[in-house]
Amino acid sequence: MSFDQQLARIAELAPAHPQNIALQSFDPAYFDGLDRDLQTRLMACINSGVENPDSEMGCYACQPSDYDDLRPFFAQALAAYHKVGLDARHVNDWSLDGVDGLPESGALDLAALGLPALSMRVRVGRNLADFPLPGAMTQADRVALENRMMAAFNILISNDDYGGSYHSLTPGNPNEITADQYQALVNEHVMFKDMSADTYLLAAGIAGDWPHGRGCYVSADRSFIIWVGEEDHLRIMCMEKGTVLNRVFDRLKTALDVVATIDGLSFAMSADYGVVTSCPTNMGTGMRASVHIPLPGLTADGTDAQAKAIAKPLGLSVRGVGGEHTPIGADGTVDISPSARFCITEAQIIAALYNGLALLKAEEDKLA
Ligand code: ADP
Ligand code: ARG
Repeated sequence: MSFDQQLARIAELAPAHPQNIALQSFDPAYFDGLDRDLQTRLMACINSGVENPDSEMGCYACQPSDYDDLRPFFAQALAAYHKVGLDARHVNDWSLDGVDGLPESGALDLAALGLPALSMRVRVGRNLADFPLPGAMTQADRVALENRMMAAFNILISNDDYGGSYHSLTPGNPNEITADQYQALVNEHVMFKDMSADTYLLAAGIAGDWPHGRGCYVSADRSFIIWVGEEDHLRIMCMEKGTVLNRVFDRLKTALDVVATIDGLSFAMSADYGVVTSCPTNMGTGMRASVHIPLPGLTADGTDAQAKAIAKPLGLSVRGVGGEHTPIGADGTVDISPSARFCITEAQIIAALYNGLALLKAEEDKLA
């Protein structure tokens, strides 16, 4: 499709899809003033939202530098989604000291809210600074990135705290797993879903060359995990059942510090926007902190509609038990996480999960 055809399509779609931030942030006059190379880059970034007009964000960066080189567009998209100013600047900070809403003990213990042990997870997205983002990677890039990570995992394997094993989906990789082994890891919530079934990621180029260059590293105790080749080069996470949120949060911070010292792993950062992620929804911290919690009252009609209506004003997102775009559990279990990622610190996010759950539980209790 020529640029003129693309422009006509955007002009036609935009008024009918006010929720699509990429379509709303696209300014034809700004596009017109760009050189050919930047025009091509901007079109690539918004392709997912054009092909999927029902998108909410509708764009993904293809290079870490897109956020700077196409700044007027991305500043607008970030401002619209994260409800911040066009000149917003992000600051990363994992220190819980002085964070609002932190209990005096410093412990974010769900038991103090009357909650049972829940499956807790904190993940961060990270991208290597010297590769294109997944939307612009060739198959050779994806495999080169996986090889870079396998060298890093060889170092982690000998670490007492994070030692484990790597499982690859790449045909012919020495660590290749079978389809059954892959499905078992998905069922265990360790491995990510088949991306080639996701129309947003497909149109973004992010799901390209599936399953080449995809895999995951899992520690021996199965609670420290690194995804390779999903929406970001890496998703690094800690996951365990319990009540003290600090456990997964602190362990992830410690693990990240270890990973960041490994040769060849330099993460893409933006001077103004913090951690660089493919999707602008994740920019800043790249962090999502979640629990799996049964809400039988709020999901009594078998859907997440009421839970979402209550959770949204509390700044919480509701997902299904298999992650984004999946259904809730048969017993009403849902995935709850703070929605904010940008212009908020990592420490504020984990505190927001704790305080949000207190409020959500009060709503659930009213229905019990
Ligand atoms: P992401 O969290 O990286 O944005 P998803 O929402 O798709 O991606 O979730 C990825 C996987 O992590 C899914 O299998 C999901 O069930 C699992 N998951 C998320 N939060 C938890 C949790 N608190 N406990 C167990 N599994 C979780
Ligand atoms: N591109 C999709 C949209 O705009 C998903 C955005 C958020 N999810 C994500 N995995 N990045 O609606």
